[in-house]
Amino acid sequence: MAEVEGRTRDLGYTDRVAEFRAPEERILGNEEREDLLARAGELRSVALDPIALWDLGLLGTGALAPLDGFMDARQYESTVGGMTLPDGTTIGLPVLLSVTAEEAREIREGEEIALLDAARGLRGRMVVREKFRRDAVREAREAYGTTDEEHPGVRMLRSLPEHCLSGPVDLLAPPADERFGEHLRTPRQVRELFRERGWTTVVGFQTRNPIHRAHEYLTKCALETVDGLLLHPLVGETRREDIPADVRLRCYEALVRRYYPSDRVLLSVFPSAMRYAGPREALFHARVRKNYGCTHFIVGRDHAGVGSYYGTYDAQKLLRGFTREQLGLVPLFFDNTFFCKACGGFASAKTCPHDSKEHLSLSGTRVREMLSRGEPLPGEFTRPEVAAVLTEHYRGLERP
Ligand code: ADX
Repeated sequence: MAEVEGRTRDLGYTDRVAEFRAPEERILGNEEREDLLARAGELRSVALDPIALWDLGLLGTGALAPLDGFMDARQYESTVGGMTLPDGTTIGLPVLLSVTAEEAREIREGEEIALLDAARGLRGRMVVREKFRRDAVREAREAYGTTDEEHPGVRMLRSLPEHCLSGPVDLLAPPADERFGEHLRTPRQVRELFRERGWTTVVGFQTRNPIHRAHEYLTKCALETVDGLLLHPLVGETRREDIPADVRLRCYEALVRRYYPSDRVLLSVFPSAMRYAGPREALFHARVRKNYGCTHFIVGRDHAGVGSYYGTYDAQKLLRGFTREQLGLVPLFFDNTFFCKACGGFASAKTCPHDSKEHLSLSGTRVREMLSRGEPLPGEFTRPEVAAVLTEHYRGLERP
């Protein structure tokens, strides 16, 4: 008992998944869905930008709890300036619904509106709470650390209109996407699987890349100390240079099948857009993984970074400024890892005494170059089953 109490004290309430209440889902039931479909033609509607469309799915499934809808001015201000919601919940990045000046003029506060995708398909509804303006330049500077439009997240942000609508949302239907099949689960479903498997501590792993061996090393090091691993690759909007989500999913499936124990790992997709906001996005990623039921979360080198906008360990530095209670989980920090020929395995500067001449590490850009030239990836870098999927994908790109 004393031991259990001690452990609980050490990790706070994040220690036991079973203690969490699953976040509330905001998904219409059958009758409400029929009703909205019947009325939708009479409602004013807004077509969501790519980021807001993915955010709608997160909001509706409780992945962004305690947020139940797009942010209002106070929440926006508090997030941009202080990284938290007004109640102190860490969130890192704004979650906004941008609309044109004309839409902002026409739509009234208190009005119910239909939320559409780019093809004007109905995806949900929102009751408008407030209209306000975002300050894209300040948002870029504070949340992305740069106003440079070469930054993919900043470019996206600056392309959106400054008018915003806030309010609680409801999803028309449970999330479904044939590209992801059974790997697409709500936080509630993910927690249920943790519970069925008897996992009380679970480490989450964010990635927007195929899982190379350095990633595998991080996840397995982390798994040595907890009950389960949630492989949670982001599959929403990414840059054109990043490998498409469906190809990555084939890589993950091949890797998990061959190299991970099936009763210790859960592969599930994270249906969110990538903002490339580095440290702030690490905070955002941690909040969401807490909502999916993770008790721990991996943050390695240049988490969610792009180009050379962020320092290698800036994300870790930012997260170290918050307590575990504030983050909602325990962050697990990793140094840059690589294959060391002299060690004969993976290591980092923390664990390897050898000269860097012995180290093999390839940048994402270099890997893309090798694949597009049809060069094989070294076995110390990528498992052959993963390399095979990637090679096939790149060959397909070359075909006319
Ligand atoms: S990210 O944009 O999703 O962060 P990526 O898929 O490259 O990009 O990284 C996933 C996670 O693994 C991040 O936490 C990142 O910091 C970490 N990571 C990736 N490669 C390494 C490495 N060689 N050493 C340490 N951490 C790494």
